[in-house]
Amino acid sequence: WVRNTYYALVEAELEKYRGVEGPVIAAVSGGVDSTVAAAVARKVLGDRVIPVLVDHGLFREGEVEEVVEKLSATGLKPLVLDERERFLSRLEGVVDCEERRRIIGEEFAKVFDQVMEAEGARLFVQGTTYPDIVESGGTVVADRIKSHHNVAGLPSWFREKYLVAEPLKHLYKDEVREVARMLGVPGYFVERHPFPGPGLAVRVIGVFTREKLEVCRRASAIVEQVLRRHGLLDKVWQAFAVVGDDKWVGVKGDARRVGYVVIVRIVESSDAMTADYFKPPYSVLDEVSREITRSIEDVTMVAYAVTTKPPSTIEPC
Ligand code: XMP
Repeated sequence: WVRNTYYALVEAELEKYRGVEGPVIAAVSGGVDSTVAAAVARKVLGDRVIPVLVDHGLFREGEVEEVVEKLSATGLKPLVLDERERFLSRLEGVVDCEERRRIIGEEFAKVFDQVMEAEGARLFVQGTTYPDIVESGGTVVADRIKSHHNVAGLPSWFREKYLVAEPLKHLYKDEVREVARMLGVPGYFVERHPFPGPGLAVRVIGVFTREKLEVCRRASAIVEQVLRRHGLLDKVWQAFAVVGDDKWVGVKGDARRVGYVVIVRIVESSDAMTADYFKPPYSVLDEVSREITRSIEDVTMVAYAVTTKPPSTIEPC
């Protein structure tokens, strides 16, 4: 009955909009939140719900192709908009992370505005959850931690111009997962790690460059591969790589090389409000380090993040 209660809450949020006519745009990213929001919207509002995936160039390696395939198999084949240049050209050189979030939120809103106009839609659906609102300083907690793009980043002009449905806004992640299971959303989505809306943009510390973005993307893929190989990926909350501006002198082949420091962050958590760093066997860390430095020319040091949340947050910025 607990599952049913969560589901009823979500359904009720969408029922409010049943009378709104015309196409409905549902933002999807492949994460469990947006998938559940789109799936329930389809159930309540029908085929007029169009899932739209905006490729901002900040997804993980191979992620867009994989997600499109999985969503399509679930009956939620998305309209994919390749907006990589739009986002990356604006992010290049930006140091402040909140500024990057603001830019991403603004560009997301512009892209969705264009789609809404083109489709003649009045209603927009997104998978904002309760922690997204709390951590962005919504009505619940006074001091803001980070502005999660889907809440603080959605500019007021967008909310004034359109109706915005956020059917998951009362739920925590584990509750969203319960609803997903109840709806028969495939395990692929239910078990996936959370991934921030602004994607890899929040995993590059310091000046944002395309080069650092690519190092971050490749290194993250290696972290995931090694953990998967050891059956550990599904046991942790999140696992990824971070790149900053610090450089470390290395020796590659016979030559001195000044390369990036990659920080590996693997955490355990149940709701992302607190987290502990994962303690993998040293042999696994060793494999991660060797594979990253071997396969990425520009990396000469791999470090492991050993701080809990709080005082750290999960993402670096
Ligand atoms: P932090 O880094 O604040 O993250 O400990 C808590 C959880 O939220 C995710 N996160 C984000 N999600 N937009 C999102 O949609 C964001 O800007 C954002 N920043 C952090 C993070 O991955 C973790 O699961």
